[in-house]
Amino acid sequence: MDYDALYRRSIDEPEAFWREQAARIDWHQPFEQVCDHSQPPFARWFAGGLTNLCHNAVDRHVPQRPDQPALVYISTETGQERSLSYGQLYVEVQRTAAILQAMGVRKGDRVLIYMPMIPEAVVAMLATVRLGAIHSVVFGGFASHALASRIDDAQPTVVFTADAGSRGGKVIAYKPLLDEALKQAQHAVPHVVVVDRGLAPAPLQAGRDHDFHTLRREVMDAQVPCEWVASEHPSYTLYTSGTTGKPKGVQRDTGGYAVALAMSMDLIYCGQPGETFFCTSDIGWVVGHSYIVYGPLLAGMTTIVYEGLPVRPDAAVWWSIVERHRANVMFSAPTAIRVLKKQDPDCLKRHDLSSLKHLFLAGEPLDEPTARWIGEAIGKPIIDNYWQTETGWPILSLARGVDPHQAPRLGSPGVPMPGYKVTLRDDQTGEPLTGANQKGVLTIDGPLPPGCLQTVWGDDRRFVQTYWSTFPNQPVYNTFDWGIRDEDGYYFILGRTDDVINVAGHRLGTREIEEAVSSHPAVAEVAVVGVADEVKGQVARAFVVVKDPQRVADDAGRAALEAEIMRTVDGQLGAVARPARVHFVNVLPKTRSGKLLRRAIQAVCEGRATGDLTTIEDPAALQQLQEAVAR
Ligand code: PRX
Repeated sequence: MDYDALYRRSIDEPEAFWREQAARIDWHQPFEQVCDHSQPPFARWFAGGLTNLCHNAVDRHVPQRPDQPALVYISTETGQERSLSYGQLYVEVQRTAAILQAMGVRKGDRVLIYMPMIPEAVVAMLATVRLGAIHSVVFGGFASHALASRIDDAQPTVVFTADAGSRGGKVIAYKPLLDEALKQAQHAVPHVVVVDRGLAPAPLQAGRDHDFHTLRREVMDAQVPCEWVASEHPSYTLYTSGTTGKPKGVQRDTGGYAVALAMSMDLIYCGQPGETFFCTSDIGWVVGHSYIVYGPLLAGMTTIVYEGLPVRPDAAVWWSIVERHRANVMFSAPTAIRVLKKQDPDCLKRHDLSSLKHLFLAGEPLDEPTARWIGEAIGKPIIDNYWQTETGWPILSLARGVDPHQAPRLGSPGVPMPGYKVTLRDDQTGEPLTGANQKGVLTIDGPLPPGCLQTVWGDDRRFVQTYWSTFPNQPVYNTFDWGIRDEDGYYFILGRTDDVINVAGHRLGTREIEEAVSSHPAVAEVAVVGVADEVKGQVARAFVVVKDPQRVADDAGRAALEAEIMRTVDGQLGAVARPARVHFVNVLPKTRSGKLLRRAIQAVCEGRATGDLTTIEDPAALQQLQEAVAR
């Protein structure tokens, strides 16, 4: 079959197509309906079916491949390397499930996971869905305030954490950040489980905090069967940024997600049972959920869980892992490749990469020079893929699993994947743009295919309003990305239409950063914009109006306050969100109606023309901005 036939069938005969795909996973009870779309935009995939994500990722493989490694953990931070076979993972997951169960975790309850990249984090995710509970992983790089708001939204019964993570050899204590978040949160978390790695011993609060290793020793023989849940039962929520400051809990189902991931492993990533998948993301992001944890395990593959940087001890570290573990598929982000590009090119030539079939990259635009450079350096096809936390798996990519000769096109993440009815639309009218090479907003007609978000956790209205209400009378899903399609149907992504920025593949909301900056007592007003950066793709820059201009009257004052504001952001959201620069101005450029001219600020920072600014309130504001940037 070729790509066109595959895609056409998914659109023209969705029932038959998805019924076939659903056979890739085990169902405890068969579904009655492929898709219930009777209440759009809500879609219930495989309605009436009962299944379990942990069963499909772990239990199902134990008879066939008990001794095959399911998970290989490699830490260049602690020097540890540990492997868990499917048989061992099955046992470990039941132990952790027993621990959660003893704390009262039942079907539908939430378990928040705030963990570094260690096997216990993956086990905790699997144990949670085993019980029919719902996990919410919060990226370990987020700090107390960000964590507290997620705790309040998810209202977990248990928080799973570790004493510390490590980054670039520097220990980052997690437990104190969690303690602070628990103080800030309204929701009282009954139980905290701490995996003590011996990195930053933390005191345990009696009654609330528990030592994981102690608990585990008490449940060594635990047998905890999978809870069979309805296909549409939520498996997890994952918070992501949008236009407003409050992060949204993207809610994913169980059956649709399992089917979509199993399909994507075969058709997109060309990953087969028994092979090894190496994804360099973090479990705190959607790429980690789908392609460190669930995708590879659903496919019966070995997944590599890597804790460390791409350039430590040297820039060959990933490729030595590929060589030693005979990795067949690799998945990373363009930023990491741009970091490697700055290192000794011979690092890439030192290792035998013959096992590797493809390198997939996603999360941010893949520029042509980077794609070309890495393709030549490793001599493998580089496959871009475009998607979002909301969709859980690629919207655009190539389907090399059915069409091995489908050619990548430099600068393009490819063509629509099965089930995605992608349309570019006029940003004002919402009318579809049918011609080639027209720039429009990338939208998807409902129902979204299996695996995509079901709703926003606890807020159906927000789901409908945020994603489905951009164009009156045209209820289509808005990705908030600009796109363009060439004559051959390849798409190109041209950046976000909203205030979301992408820093080193990490999705951040400028409003969230603005709120953190504003919490500094010296700040009267702030604007945060994303500015193009050679390595990170984009970085955040903050423009601040201070309450007392005396504080920023000279270089020393400015430098001191800049550092203080950065520390404030670090403490609230985490270093991932820290602006690269904080500039001080007397006034921010706004329209006469008081709207911040973000695009103009961004243009000034990038040295571009600001475009038509007839509506600007105070033209001197831009002049001042230019001076501040030049300083
Ligand atoms: O703007 C697009 C960009 O990242 C956003 C989604 O980020 P996140 O929710 O973190 O999910 C990442 C999943 C891979 C998108 O709205 N983006 C993602 N992939 C690409 C991309 N931009 C250009 N090319 C890509 N391949």
